[in-house]
Amino acid sequence: MTSPQQPWWSGGVLYQAYPRSFADSNGDGIGDLAGLRGRLEYLHWLDVDGIWLNPTFPSPNRDWGYDVSDYFGVHSDLGTLEDLDALIADAGELGIRILLDLVPAHTSDQHEWFVESRSSRESSRRPWYIWADEVDEQESVFGGATWTYDERTSQYYHHLFLPEQPDLNWMLPAVRNAFDGILRFWFDRGVAGLRIDVVHELVKDPPSRPNRPEIHNVLRRWRSLAGGYESERLLVGETWVMDLDELASFYGRNDELQLAFNFPFMFAGLDATALAGVVERTDAVLPGGALPVWALSNHDVVRFPTRMCDEDDAKVRSALLALLTLRGTSFLYYGDELGMRQVEIPPDQVRDVHGRDGARTPMPWGDVEWRDPWLPLGGKVATVASQRGDPGSVLSFCRDAIALRRGRDDLVSGGYAPLDSPIGVWAWRRGGATGIALNLTDSESTVPLEGEVLLSTKGRDHPSRLEPWEGVVVALT
Ligand code: NOJ
Ligand code: CA
Repeated sequence: MTSPQQPWWSGGVLYQAYPRSFADSNGDGIGDLAGLRGRLEYLHWLDVDGIWLNPTFPSPNRDWGYDVSDYFGVHSDLGTLEDLDALIADAGELGIRILLDLVPAHTSDQHEWFVESRSSRESSRRPWYIWADEVDEQESVFGGATWTYDERTSQYYHHLFLPEQPDLNWMLPAVRNAFDGILRFWFDRGVAGLRIDVVHELVKDPPSRPNRPEIHNVLRRWRSLAGGYESERLLVGETWVMDLDELASFYGRNDELQLAFNFPFMFAGLDATALAGVVERTDAVLPGGALPVWALSNHDVVRFPTRMCDEDDAKVRSALLALLTLRGTSFLYYGDELGMRQVEIPPDQVRDVHGRDGARTPMPWGDVEWRDPWLPLGGKVATVASQRGDPGSVLSFCRDAIALRRGRDDLVSGGYAPLDSPIGVWAWRRGGATGIALNLTDSESTVPLEGEVLLSTKGRDHPSRLEPWEGVVVALT
């Protein structure tokens, strides 16, 4: 439904799949690429435009793939390069694009670059990482120091995350050149874009990190590389900043990232004033023509039904309705469409160093059972199989909302305009003739919308009188 000048992701819905937990093809308890390929029919039925896969590269998995030991391969738990090619091809047949997760800020300590770098001060790879004789006491993101002393060469190396994730030295031209090759390798294989890990801290000037001007230089370089492809490749950044002006800076003058994840939105809570504030301000600060990008959950945070909806499906539906009716590009995290909750992980089944397993548990398909999955099942949610057959389920609602978006130009490309509404109600117009209102309160409320109700979170058809926690999309008259 996008106009010819608009890129494919404009107005689109993308789906984040955590490969280890999505679908297991060989019964070893670990999701894999063949499993995901076997579930493309589901994602096509849901009608998503693309899939972002969490890291698929060989990795010792100290940080579950975010410690890459080879940027040109596929992790043996997940399959082979041929499996990835087949996934790209089959998804392409269904009009679904594949995005990989690029981890450029650090490698695994097992990556050959680091093995060489730490072998000697004279190694030609030495300057590829950040080494120092004297260091400060900054704390790393996962706790503990950001500098680790390496006995062999009597210097410290820098790592924002685990000691097993040494930071690359992005001030070095050779590192930038190496990554140009990595981007090209995947783009040439048909990968439609990349989610880029910790891009807001990519280039470091230790100890004061990060070096923002240099980050922007790298982003411009990547954008021109991505733009050199006939079908422009998408760069979507993990821009974990809470200041929206800063967030906007990663779009550059529309010559850096095409999309920068909006964490202020993710953490606003299900609160009308807070959400409206973030959305309006985002609209105001983004460069003209840039697209906002919205997500409620990802693999690093508590699942949204638990974090912002008190595990109440009425609230879950309202949050999904907002996600899917805002201007820009929306990302669903696998299980969001089911209303999947955060899962309690028994202490003896913890796998992650940073307590994030509860958001990464296996997808509850229901038709095929997981055998001895790597993380426990759970989520206090009905399975895909049972929700698919139930027109009143959260899944069916989510699919209806996507279908509505597809079929209505206002929802694909119409501008966002806030509407006056009572306290606790968030209402806005998209384009010329579509109104959306969410009553985010415990009492009935009245909103100034007139017309036909196209979708209600409660299956009702009153455009202006909303039940508690009801949301509606209205064809305005
Ligand atoms: C952000 C990723 O999303 C997270 O899962 C990872 O632990 C850190 N970056 C380090 O790569
Ligand atoms: Ca498997």
